[in-house]
Amino acid sequence: MHALPRDSLNFPDNFIWGTSSAGHQIEGSNEFSDWWAWEQEGLIEDGTVSGRAMDYWNRHEEDHALMAKLAYKGFRLGIEWARVEPQKGRFDCVVIEHYRRILQSLRKHGFKICLTLHHWVMPRWVAEQGDWLNPDTVHQFLRYAKFVIEELGAFPDYWVTMNEPMVPAILGNVLGQFPPQRRSLRAYRAVSRSYLRAHAGTYHLIHKMHPLAPDGTRSMVGVAMAYPWIEPWNSPGPAGWYERFAAFIARRAAFEGWDHTICTGKPHWIHGGPAIAGIQNSYDYCGINYYTRVSLKYDRRRRDQYRLDETKALPGIDVTQMGWQIYPEGFYRTIRHVWERFGKPILITENGIADDTDTQRPRYIVEHIAQVHRAIQEGIPILGYYHWSFIDNFEWREGFAKRFGLIAVRHDDPDLIRAPRRSAYLYSEIAQKNAVTRETVEAYAPQAVATVFGD
Ligand code: BGC
Repeated sequence: MHALPRDSLNFPDNFIWGTSSAGHQIEGSNEFSDWWAWEQEGLIEDGTVSGRAMDYWNRHEEDHALMAKLAYKGFRLGIEWARVEPQKGRFDCVVIEHYRRILQSLRKHGFKICLTLHHWVMPRWVAEQGDWLNPDTVHQFLRYAKFVIEELGAFPDYWVTMNEPMVPAILGNVLGQFPPQRRSLRAYRAVSRSYLRAHAGTYHLIHKMHPLAPDGTRSMVGVAMAYPWIEPWNSPGPAGWYERFAAFIARRAAFEGWDHTICTGKPHWIHGGPAIAGIQNSYDYCGINYYTRVSLKYDRRRRDQYRLDETKALPGIDVTQMGWQIYPEGFYRTIRHVWERFGKPILITENGIADDTDTQRPRYIVEHIAQVHRAIQEGIPILGYYHWSFIDNFEWREGFAKRFGLIAVRHDDPDLIRAPRRSAYLYSEIAQKNAVTRETVEAYAPQAVATVFGD
């Protein structure tokens, strides 16, 4: 017998429907940072630089009012180390006051605040002293973190000590695609260990200095970790063996090694070295950033050292403006993987799609949120979902051409007008109803009715 078709995927009370962002990508004028300097070298693919970005620094009030109007319930934002400490040891009080006003405004609107202390970017003076390879950097990061916790620690409902440390560790140190463009496995290892030490130190600092969250419960601290669903392409013959081996290593370098180190306290072989003080169990929740599946394919024509193509989509799979495979099932599998590993509550800290015309996004949203619902139905505690991103922003190496926003903004528009896409209203309906209803899906993404409701 068929189960009766459902008409609504309902979410638990107090589920947070938020949006996500990062300082450097939206604030603008992060002049004292390593990324700012790197951008000036003409390395950004669409020829842009972050510049004034979306000018969130000055337009935050307007943005918060728009989020509130759309009935969004949470916001994830970042603090920029390079703004707070533009020169070594000089902490800028004007900047901290400005961040305080931003956070006060978010509080006034009643948003659940998720605050990131490090999202890839560092002050230029840190980069110049050898970034995370320099043993002093961890200590200096902790000094910065302490200052921010002291000044702003009363605001966050959720702390993200760092965003996806594996991304700069791999792209910046192994593949040479991000600053400082190293190509060294040894550097990957050293940088990863520094990140882990900085995370562990920050975790304990927060618990010492701000043991309670604004609602009086224990502070919630974690990392927003990148979880691409990595698979081998499975070519026939030796190429397939190599792909399976590469996927095995890539999964460990990307997240499994990190999960292991944090969970057990014993450095995974991918990180090596002696124990890292305070790392064991240094998560109160697990932050998941999920976007896509990566299928690793051997390509002997490639000139790089690993001869792997990570950009190919499996036949029949749609891809986004980034060329990323759309694979909602991987979201569920990731959530389950993290839950089985840690057994801790989960916060979706990022999930989204680059889609300038907003043709794929509505379907992407409902199909991915349906996977979150599936996991909740199976008893996995998920606290909320922060969609990436609130507005279009500076998409790192890709510049402004790749557009992840629920709200469209043209970086070359002198007025930087905020124009909600249809998806912004779709997400608003979901947040208001605390559910994905058949009516909503029929209105915004009719192609997804069958997949979302299992008809
Ligand atoms: C990062 C964001 C980025 C997004 C889309 C995530 O890995 O945290 O900063 O914009 O992916 O590429």
